[in-house]
Amino acid sequence: MDTNKTILCVGLVCIDLKTIVQTYPLEDSGQRTLDTIKERGGNASNTATVLSSIGCNVEFLGTVADCENINFLRSDCSEYGINIENCAVCPKTKCPLSVVIINTENGSRTILHSNKSLRELKCEDFMKLDLKKYKWIHFEGRPNRDEIYLMMNHVRKYNNSVDDEDKIVISLEIEKIRPVLLDDLIELADYTFLSKDYARYLDYDDMTSCVKGMSDEKGKTIFCAWGEQGAAAKNPDGPIVTSKAFKPPQVKDTTGAGDTFIAGCIYSLCRNLSLGNCIEIGCRLAGAKCGIMGLKDIH
Ligand code: ADP
Ligand code: FRU
Repeated sequence: MDTNKTILCVGLVCIDLKTIVQTYPLEDSGQRTLDTIKERGGNASNTATVLSSIGCNVEFLGTVADCENINFLRSDCSEYGINIENCAVCPKTKCPLSVVIINTENGSRTILHSNKSLRELKCEDFMKLDLKKYKWIHFEGRPNRDEIYLMMNHVRKYNNSVDDEDKIVISLEIEKIRPVLLDDLIELADYTFLSKDYARYLDYDDMTSCVKGMSDEKGKTIFCAWGEQGAAAKNPDGPIVTSKAFKPPQVKDTTGAGDTFIAGCIYSLCRNLSLGNCIEIGCRLAGAKCGIMGLKDIH
């Protein structure tokens, strides 16, 4: 794999308005907060941030609302060296926004997300890319399932037309339970990251039975992160591997822990490390992330 080529992360970029509280608020009460911080968020955008911070060449692709937040998003991406030149800029729409309550007692994050009008990415936006630039494309499973299906197939067709060393690796994240079923996208990806919530939705009670069941069913490599229990992964023809979570001295902010875990795994897979090493590095990086506010200074 050509290490100079770019990793593309496809999915959501939004604004995170983090409100840091001493104790979790009571409904219909009033309390002072410790701080309010505005950050760039969104799963694919967070994964891009971490990949860039640990030295990868990164591009983000998604829709971006042409509203008062666009300059903030642009300059933040540029600060992190994330290329966003191919994003679809959408006029007359508002940027999706999450109000995120961070409880300093335990670092928990409660996300209240809203997207009133920004459309999802379409395959026609994706078709503008010059695929020769990329070594890896990571897709965030979102409600535009049919469009993601087309994008993934477009990459697979490209892969059929080039030599092995130029083939693009495809990864997929399925985190949220959506009104549309995303399971069949797993067959189009080389690596899939399933969240604890999604695993439970599929009726798995723990991470090891999830990676075993899903890699057997799909014949693909499956990862599953499970909060403070760490993570598991399995190649279809290999054993289940697990890693513990790495607790920081103080859990400050768990927002984006899963997105960071994915970045650590993609980074390690690009270096051909064993699956066990990949999830350990993913968990170490995600643990370090939980010990800091936001994603700045992660390494
Ligand atoms: P998400 O952010 O998608 O909810 P998880 O909660 O499953 O993701 O966390 C992803 C990874 O982050 C876990 O596998 C673990 O390694 C790490 N992690 C999450 N919470 C903690 C924590 N409290 N302490 C240490 N590591 C954590
Ligand atoms: C964290 C995150 C936040 C964002 C929310 C979107 O994983 O990407 O940055 O507000 O989830 O669902």
